[in-house]
Amino acid sequence: MDPNSYTHSLFSLFVFLVLSPLASGQLDYKFYDSTCPNLTKIVRYGVWSAVYNDTRMAASLLRLHFHDCFVNGCDGSVLLDDTSTFIGEKNSGPNRNSVRGYEVIDDIKANIEKSCPSTVSCADILTLVAREAVFYAGGSTYYWTVLLGRRDGTTASQSAANQQIPSPFEPLENITAKFTSKGLEMKDVVVLSGGHTIGFAQCSSFKQRLFNFNSSGNPDPTLDSSLLKNLQSTCPNQDSSNSNLAPLDPVTINKFDNVYYKNLVNNSGILQSDQALMGDSNMAAMVNNYSKYPYLFAKDFGASMVKMGQIGVLTGKDGEIRKNCRVVN
Ligand code: HEM
Ligand SMILES: *[C@@H]1O[C@H](CO)[C@@H](O)[C@H](O)[C@H]1NC(C)=O
Ligand SMILES: *[C@@H]1O[C@H](CO)[C@@H](O)[C@H](O)[C@H]1NC(C)=O
Ligand SMILES: *[C@@H]1O[C@H](CO)[C@@H](O)[C@H](O)[C@H]1NC(C)=O
Ligand SMILES: *[C@@H]1O[C@H](CO)[C@@H](O)[C@H](O)[C@H]1NC(C)=O
Ligand SMILES: *[C@@H]1O[C@H](CO)[C@@H](O)[C@H](O)[C@H]1NC(C)=O
Ligand SMILES: *[C@@H]1O[C@H](CO)[C@@H](O)[C@H](O)[C@H]1NC(C)=O
Repeated sequence: MDPNSYTHSLFSLFVFLVLSPLASGQLDYKFYDSTCPNLTKIVRYGVWSAVYNDTRMAASLLRLHFHDCFVNGCDGSVLLDDTSTFIGEKNSGPNRNSVRGYEVIDDIKANIEKSCPSTVSCADILTLVAREAVFYAGGSTYYWTVLLGRRDGTTASQSAANQQIPSPFEPLENITAKFTSKGLEMKDVVVLSGGHTIGFAQCSSFKQRLFNFNSSGNPDPTLDSSLLKNLQSTCPNQDSSNSNLAPLDPVTINKFDNVYYKNLVNNSGILQSDQALMGDSNMAAMVNNYSKYPYLFAKDFGASMVKMGQIGVLTGKDGEIRKNCRVVN
């Protein structure tokens, strides 16, 4: 190497090391440390007050981040209200009369705007809120460090929400395909399904399992018989029961822990898509692992959430920082 190109390489290395955190378009752990130093405190306060008032809200807030990331990437699109130019995601099949927590995000955003106006994206707020919700419901075992610096999208898509958010009625292969199309893996399907250790499902999301006896008069063999009786009483076989609620983890309803996996081992998954994990031998081995080792689940859940939080993000100069999470600036 001649001396000139050596100097040039050193210079390039210098430029890379100094500028890359700003210019690379990547997410960063310290993104708002100087521009919004109280961000974590504000988000934590907002999540804790909301969950203190309504315990289920921890689950609802975690799910919001998932539904954001699976449609147009983690860009806050799930929060946009319908406009005359696009139909948003709020009224899509998976979200309508099901997703909750929009008002909690509005309150947190308003508090952030007071301290640091036009600085923090709604997409990053959803990421931080999901982490704080799990921390509240699971304690410090279930805490991870989040990457920040996402920007907000300027559009939303109802049809993408209908097509890309997994349905509890589709086969496991289709659900896995939806995860892999987002750059996630089979393992992430098992780990992130563990989010169903908190929260509730409406009877319409699983009722087909309760009254669908086969020709020998037997019920779904993958649903524990005493749980079946309980669910049949929560969800009588008539349309009027469709919006009744059952906990996704009936054993430790509001606690974020690994009991979801113990339930699957005992044929006590509520959604068909939950119990289906036991029908795949590789996934069943992971379920068994997580049912025995809560710390392994905690570590893997944080890692998969960080992965999910990187799906299709806008960074740098792309997108915008919305002032109000419901509308494009
Ligand atoms: C693997 C594919 C998944 C399917 C098929 C699925 C499906 C569902 C369904 C049908 C409900 C109940 C909705 C209702 O009845 O109104 C639900 C609730 C929930 N989901 Fe999922 N989900 C999946 C993955 C995830 C992931 C990755 C997370 C987060 C990491 C998550 C977190 C939640 C939570 C916390 C709730 C309860 C929400 C509440 O109580 O408000 N789910 N899910
Ligand atoms: C408390 O939770 C209830 C039920 O979700 C909700 O209707 C109410 O607005 C919440 N109140 C506050 C102050 O957040
Ligand atoms: C952060 O909070 C402290 C008090 O907890 C306050 O004195 C300070 O002004 C806040 N900083 C910003 C940028 O809002
Ligand atoms: C599963 O995916 C296949 C291939 O994309 C598709 O043909 C099929 O309709 C899907 N099944 C369900 C129940 O969504
Ligand atoms: C009906 O279910 C029972 C157990 O639940 C199973 O042994 C039997 O093979 C099933 N019969 C049919 C026709 O699916
Ligand atoms: C699962 O089954 C085992 C063995 O039958 C039992 O000890 C355990 O309490 C059950 N766990 C749950 C969560 O129902
Ligand atoms: C079970 O967990 C151990 C780590 O504790 C890991 O080495 C192993 O690969 C896991 N097995 C499965 C099937 O996930």
